[in-house]
Amino acid sequence: MTTVRVEVPGQGYDVHVGPGVRHDLGRSVATTTRARRVLVVSQAPVADHWLDDVRDALVAADLVVDVALVEDGEPAKDPAVLARLWDTCARAGLERRDAVVALGGGVVGDLGGFVAATFNRGIDVVQVPTTVLAMVDASVGGKTGIDLVAGKNLVGAIHQPAVVVSDTEVLATLPRRVLREGFGEVVKHALIADPDLLDDLEATAATVVGDAAGHASLVARNVAIKAGFVAADSHEHGIRAHLNLGHTYAHALEALTGYATWWHGEAVAVGTLVALALGEELGLHGPDLRARTATLLGALGLPVAAPVLERDAVLAVMARDKKADGGIRYVVLDAPGSPRVVSPTPEQVGRAIDRVESPDAHEPRGAADLAAEPSAPTAVADTAAPTDLHGRVAAPTARPDRPGATP
Ligand SMILES: NC(=O)c1ccc[n+]([C@@H]2O[C@H](COP(=O)([O-])OP(=O)(O)OC[C@H]3O[C@@H](n4cnc5c(N)ncnc54)[C@H](O)[C@@H]3O)[C@@H](O)[C@H]2O)c1
Ligand SMILES: [Zn+2]
Repeated sequence: MTTVRVEVPGQGYDVHVGPGVRHDLGRSVATTTRARRVLVVSQAPVADHWLDDVRDALVAADLVVDVALVEDGEPAKDPAVLARLWDTCARAGLERRDAVVALGGGVVGDLGGFVAATFNRGIDVVQVPTTVLAMVDASVGGKTGIDLVAGKNLVGAIHQPAVVVSDTEVLATLPRRVLREGFGEVVKHALIADPDLLDDLEATAATVVGDAAGHASLVARNVAIKAGFVAADSHEHGIRAHLNLGHTYAHALEALTGYATWWHGEAVAVGTLVALALGEELGLHGPDLRARTATLLGALGLPVAAPVLERDAVLAVMARDKKADGGIRYVVLDAPGSPRVVSPTPEQVGRAIDRVESPDAHEPRGAADLAAEPSAPTAVADTAAPTDLHGRVAAPTARPDRPGATP
């Protein structure tokens, strides 16, 4: 087991990463909270495989355990679901000292974290992330929230967990496409903060996604990267923005294709290539870095070409995404490990997109994996308009079958 400490002033916490750490969950809860009762919030595809172990571990630590299963997918981040969970907390008799255990991907983490942030004016949350994305990104940093019809993540709170327990064995039951998608964020982390990780990913690209034995060290390295940004942000304003590498274009792509075809990590993969193409446009580096990254992403099974979209619409979504003096703000690299934020002209962005767009980029390559997977996320809500990274509405006509619009 590896433990990564997240240093947040007055609220630091540990992230335990490793195969089998779910069996120590009870001890983790007992040593970091004063809980006597816990409410486990989860979703069926996760609970079917992992709830029994989690419950056993909590009961073994003399905790009284209640379970609330919410509907699967992004639609669970809904005010009505939240209200039901508040009632469940009350009926279960949760007091100020007690805790919520969020067992699932980023959706459950955001929802369970927000229930904990608000019930009884705030009780502890213990994050037990079960996707690569949730382990390397969503469970670290304390962002919690739900979606509104007006947009994603519009209501929320910063509520740091008491402890995070990332058992990499649970990744074994993830649909292959969901597993692979998380590597879009992993490559992003390597590019913005860890050139050695980039080298290691290249050396292992053919096997790393399916290499269960390697997941623990990979997740731990990525948690350390995210933790570094979270800690730095508290006294160095704005550095967390570097985590947005690839996201400006990704959000436009997700929004304009209705969220169903391109999943977040896949959109981040091609968005990262657009950002590297922009770096070329601006003369920050040569084309080698993009070629190298495309080779890596392709070997991981992630898409490496952007579909041809109406250019004005892309630029319009981007302009809403993150404004700097009325223009587009973009995270680019001087080199691996050296990100910076620039304000390019629409023409420069357009030329960068030209380099990555291809008429052959129909669907992410991982899409075929999903067909055989019973636990794949399903389309449910068609009401919530998707939003950009910061929760503003991005494209009113798009349909968020599986949105993932946070960094
Ligand atoms: N709080 C943050 O900082 C932050 C950061 C990034 C993303 N997010 C949020 O995270 C959400 C996306 O999270 P996600 O990509 O983890 O998707 P997700 O939570 O929807 O999980 C994907 C699918 O996999 C299933 N699943 C999860 N773990 C499983 C397992 N071990 N075995 C079998 N099935 C499993 C889920 O039930 C779901 O169907 C979005 O709502 C996004 O806004 C939050
Ligand atoms: Zn992201």
